[in-house]
This record gives sequence, structure tokens and C-alpha cells, in this order.
Amino acid sequence: MKTIGVGLIGTGYMGKCHALAWTSVKAVFGDTPDIKLAVLGEVTAELAAKRAAEFGFAKATADWRALIADPGVDVVSVTTPNQFHAEMAIGALEAGKHVWCEKPMAPKFADAERMAEAARRSRASAILGYNYIQNPAIRYIRKLLDEQAIGKINHIRIEMDEDFLADPDQPHSWRSEATAGYGALDDFAVHPLSLIATLLGRAEAVFGEMSKPYPDRPFKGGRRAVETFDIAAALLRLPGGVSGAIHVNRCAWGRKGRIFVQIFGGRGTIVFDQERFNEVQVYVATGEAEDQGFRTILMGPAHPPYGQFIVAPGHQLGFNDLKIIECRKLIGRMLGEKTVAIDFDEGLAIERAVHAIAKSSREGAWTKV
Ligand SMILES: NC(=O)c1ccc[n+]([C@@H]2O[C@H](COP(=O)([O-])OP(=O)(O)OC[C@H]3O[C@@H](n4cnc5c(N)ncnc54)[C@H](O)[C@@H]3O)[C@@H](O)[C@H]2O)c1
Repeated sequence: MKTIGVGLIGTGYMGKCHALAWTSVKAVFGDTPDIKLAVLGEVTAELAAKRAAEFGFAKATADWRALIADPGVDVVSVTTPNQFHAEMAIGALEAGKHVWCEKPMAPKFADAERMAEAARRSRASAILGYNYIQNPAIRYIRKLLDEQAIGKINHIRIEMDEDFLADPDQPHSWRSEATAGYGALDDFAVHPLSLIATLLGRAEAVFGEMSKPYPDRPFKGGRRAVETFDIAAALLRLPGGVSGAIHVNRCAWGRKGRIFVQIFGGRGTIVFDQERFNEVQVYVATGEAEDQGFRTILMGPAHPPYGQFIVAPGHQLGFNDLKIIECRKLIGRMLGEKTVAIDFDEGLAIERAVHAIAKSSREGAWTKV
């Protein structure tokens, strides 16, 4: 494979991140085929043409089916709202294209199952946008866990909070429609679940809770009912007797991009916060009690693949860099490498956990995943 032709569907928040990743991945890693920005798809021909000119794509279309059929497209980035992921990703896989689809897979479990089946049937690679697992800091934490640096793990607790829906007068959007899924559960909780899957394994049973802080939001001069739950929580039973808890909130004033991870073991604790995501805090209970405390480890070239971006330690990576790393992982899979990424089978396990949490919240009982 000498070149990779890219098709991008959607150019909102995530679409731009994918475009930047495809533009930068070869410069950062140096070892990929040439990347050709082939076709960009948007809802109107006008918007598609505007974004194609901005992002540097050769062609633009308002018809995503034409994009996936284009012989110049080898891989399709799906960055549209959740309800479109299934038909676009399955369509692309059936056309023999590789797929990089944003999370969550799909609001309906049956659609996520169809996506996973399509990926299994296809010879192409398919991964999901679970960028947070790609952080060098998370890779370092995984290494610490493998080395038993804090002993046997007994508990993990992850909170994910942002405030983009904290204002009750924030206008209604697709994110508050039931077509997007449950709400905070499949928008946010999937990220902590992806981190837990990467660090410790899949949840075996869950006890969930979902709540709706605001009943309606402004819409076309009036107000429209909010159909989603913007706050959710779950207790988790994890492999090896480890207990877990996740709390997620899209209405958390003051929290801008917090994913607060605490991992407790028999000999210490590891703490990580996405708002300071170039740092890992490690506490190991050894030595004199008066000397014990958390150490802060600042990411640098010793924490791969940080050094691919910049030679200087402590100069910090940003969110878009996680997308570039994720892009390299997908290319690796396309080239037959085994890389760390959430593929459609692992994604389906996350969806299964999400639906089990929602069921548990409705029924008020522990639910097997
Ligand atoms: N991985 C992450 O950290 C992360 C962060 C934010 C969003 N997301 C996911 O990314 C997806 C998109 O979210 P967003 O915040 O970018 O949304 P957005 O509303 O900013 O962008 C969606 C884009 O898709 C376009 N679109 C909609 N229907 C289309 C169609 N039929 N054909 C072509 N284009 C179409 C819209 O015009 C818009 O430009 C969601 O599934 C969301 O869950 C992931």
C-alpha cells in the first residue's frame, strides 16, 4: 500500500480532528504510506466544498454513498452524529473500505451488533474513536499496572465531567434527542469504559443510575423536551474481583474536560486527570511514613509515542495529538500490525455494558453484562 485515500464524512468538532490527524500522521510518525485527502462529505454541496477547500480535500460531495463508492477512497472517517454511524460504517465496510468511526457505535444495540458483524465479515480494519486510551500517560499507567507497581489492584473509579450542557438555556440539539442514545451514558461513559477495558478488562456486572437535570431546552422560539439523561453513574464488577465506579455528567459547571481516574492497589495509588493529561500521579506506600506522598511524573520522550511529536520533555501533547496517535494505530492495522485500539468487537462489549447500565437503572438491580 503506497498511498491511502481518505474519505471524511462530517466536519464538525470531530470531523476537523480527523482531518488534522490525517494531515499530520505521516509527518509525526514518518513510517506511513502517503496520505491523500480524497473526498469530503457534508450535508450540503456548498458546505462540503467550503470544508474541502479549508481541509485540503480533492473532492467534495453531499452524498456520503458516493464518497464510500469512490475508487480513490481506501478508508472512511465517520464523524457524523451517532444515529448515522451504523449505516455509514456498514456501507463503507461492505464497499471494502477501512473505517475509523467515532464513538459510540450506535444508539441501538442491534445496530452496533450489525456493525461488528460487518467488520468481522470484511477483510478491512475498523476502529472506533476512543482517543483517550491513546495517551502516552495511559500507556505508562498500563505499564505500571503490568509491573505491579502499586500491588494487586482492588478498585478503579473514573469521573468524566464537562459543562457544555450545564446551562439549562443551552439550545436543544441532536445530543438531547433520543435518536442519539441514552445521553451521558453513551456519550461519556463509553470513554471511562474504554479506559477500564484497556487497563483492567471488561465489566462483568453493573448497577446503574441515570438522571435528567433539566426537562427541556430552548428550541425554535419555545422549549423542547430533553429526551436524554445528562448524568449517569454505575458500580462495576470487574475481572479478578476488582470493583469499579464511573460517574459521568455533561452538566458539570466548571469542568471542561475532566476525566479523573483513580486506581487503588495493595501498595499504592495512581491518579490521572484528562484536564492535566501530561501528568501521572503515583503514590507508593514504601519507606518512612513521613516521606510518603504522591510523585508527579511529567510526560516526555521516555513515554512513547510522545517523542514522535517533540523532542523536548514536559512541552505537553494536546487532544488533537491523541487523534494522530489513534490514526497511526488504524494505519498499523491496515498494514497488518497488531496495535492497541478499540475495534468493533471491543466496541460492542462497551455498548453491551452501556445497555446493561441503562437496564439496571430502569430495574434497580445488579445486571450481568
Ligand atoms: N472521541 C471523542 O472524544 C469525541 C468527542 C466529541 C464527539 N465525538 C463523537 O463524534 C460524533 C460527531 O460529534 P461532533 O461533536 O463532531 O458533532 P457535530 O455536530 O459538531 O458535527 C457533526 C457533523 O456531521 C455532519 N453531518 C450530519 N449528517 C450528515 C450526513 N448525512 N452526511 C454528511 N455529514 C453529515 C454535520 O453537518 C456536522 O458537520 C458523535 O458521534 C460524537 O459522539 C467523539
